[in-house]
Amino acid sequence: MKSKHWKFLRITLLSLLIVILLTMGFWSKRYTSQSNTYSSLLSDPFLQLPTSNSVRVVWFTSWEGDFHNVIYGQRLNNSVKATTTKLSLVREDSDSRLDIDYQKVTSRDIWRHEATISELKPNKRIPYQVVSIHDGEEILSRVFTLAAAPQPNTPLKILLTSDHQLMPMAAANMQKVVETVGKVDAVFIAGDLVNIPDRASEWFDDNRGGAFFPVLQGRAKYKLDKSGIERIYHGGEIIQHAVIFPAIGNHEVMGRFSDTSPLKRQFTDAVPRAQAEKLYWQDRGNINETGDPKIQKAWLKANSFNTDTYEEIFTLPENSSGGKKYYAVTFGNIRLVVLYVTNIWRSPSLESNVKGRYQEKTEDLNQPEKWGYGQHIFEPIVKGSSQYHWLEQELQSEAFKQAKYKIVMFHHPPHTLGGNIVPPYTDPLPQIEYDENEQITSVRYEYPQENDYIIRDVLPLLESAEVQLVYYGHSHLWNRFVNPQGVHFLESSNVGNTYGAHIEENKRPVPKDNPQLNYVETGDPNGLTPIIPTIRPLKDNSGKFLPYIASNDITVFSIFDTAMGTVSSYFYDTRKPESPVVKFDEFMLIPNN
Ligand SMILES: [Fe+2]
Repeated sequence: MKSKHWKFLRITLLSLLIVILLTMGFWSKRYTSQSNTYSSLLSDPFLQLPTSNSVRVVWFTSWEGDFHNVIYGQRLNNSVKATTTKLSLVREDSDSRLDIDYQKVTSRDIWRHEATISELKPNKRIPYQVVSIHDGEEILSRVFTLAAAPQPNTPLKILLTSDHQLMPMAAANMQKVVETVGKVDAVFIAGDLVNIPDRASEWFDDNRGGAFFPVLQGRAKYKLDKSGIERIYHGGEIIQHAVIFPAIGNHEVMGRFSDTSPLKRQFTDAVPRAQAEKLYWQDRGNINETGDPKIQKAWLKANSFNTDTYEEIFTLPENSSGGKKYYAVTFGNIRLVVLYVTNIWRSPSLESNVKGRYQEKTEDLNQPEKWGYGQHIFEPIVKGSSQYHWLEQELQSEAFKQAKYKIVMFHHPPHTLGGNIVPPYTDPLPQIEYDENEQITSVRYEYPQENDYIIRDVLPLLESAEVQLVYYGHSHLWNRFVNPQGVHFLESSNVGNTYGAHIEENKRPVPKDNPQLNYVETGDPNGLTPIIPTIRPLKDNSGKFLPYIASNDITVFSIFDTAMGTVSSYFYDTRKPESPVVKFDEFMLIPNN
């Protein structure tokens, strides 16, 4: 009897010890969201490039580590090794919001790990976890779920979001997505993911708690204080389970490279490729003695603009003309076409001391190396360009034609009440004036409406291909339109830092020296009437329904539900944290077949 008791006690003690050890092990391996220590992952894993039987898992660390793999399956008993690369251009500087004080521009060591999970069964979601081994220590993520691309007719919920840029309401917004609709299947994000693409902390660990990955992974810690009501928002655990498809916005494009000038200046310092080419050919002998095409390409990029960090972070469908800068993908019943339609943002100010969209600064007039070249377009979309040609082919493809829902996403608005739609989306035409000594006295840029490439060249293609929805961002507000051909246009980018809606007395600042240009001060310059939200529009002070939401207090997200064919938009008032999320608008996409 005694020995039986002793045996029972021994088993109990042993079990207790095992539980204690396991628990200690679990806690010691856990990482914290904002931690930048040795024993943590820099991000949770996220999903990329789904095919009919595979998907990629990607995550980041601030150390190279010894071994990285993904374990997956119902019992987490399968394992696949990850490939590791180092981000080549991410840096910090004195404007970085980190606990370390970077005095000058400093490279940041960040490694990216990616594994392909293959032989997945259709429509079967399975658990996975990533494991990184560093200095003998095993660091695990929590367990999430993954799946291959959904089969046709699988009901899907797609989050439509944009312009996060570490904006104050982004974490609240993503938190409310999860609380309101639960898990989504994919995220379509229409550009402007961060502010300065080469600043690593904006993607991973900005100490205000609202960096890109934490917000979309439920690991944010963003304090929002609205009139004394304080709340901490954590974002949503979204892209650990859902694939994210981004478009390039102006904030994904980094300008001329420098080892010393502040990152923000390098960001704004983008010039057209043609300007870099001019300089290259003037000094080719010194720049590239041997005429090596690789050196030429790298020099042109370093002296104009690039999207390298964006391209290093994301694994996207690729094509021979655009690489991964523009792409198309089938996801369930959706054919999503993502274009690289964005230009550099320059101030609308008409002051002579501003390097703006309409003029060069007076003090820079005779120093072209300091010019901004107006709102130049990064990747041509004009009829005849490679991207336009690729789009034409894509719209003719079987994958596109057969799709029940055809959605096109890009950053620049074709229809909006926002400010950024003016001037028209076209190459700036410089108007240069000289005095009698051949000194430049003014440089102005004109953007003729009839040359708007989106309106003139792209939209007719999309209309005749029966695209149902064009989704975009850039002006930091919510508004939508329908054209006479039945194409829906949605801008859902109200996550904070709105620039307002230009209606009635709130006019866009536009030059009026050339009446032929006729820049539009209020309303949609491209002639559509904004639609009043169908369920619960906001009202102005006189009680009139507003056809938009442009607010730094009320944030908006939109969900496309493929089972219903509905695009629903929701708002959340951050001034009243206990108030429910409100579905305020809904419209239907009529299925293609
Ligand atoms: Fe933008």
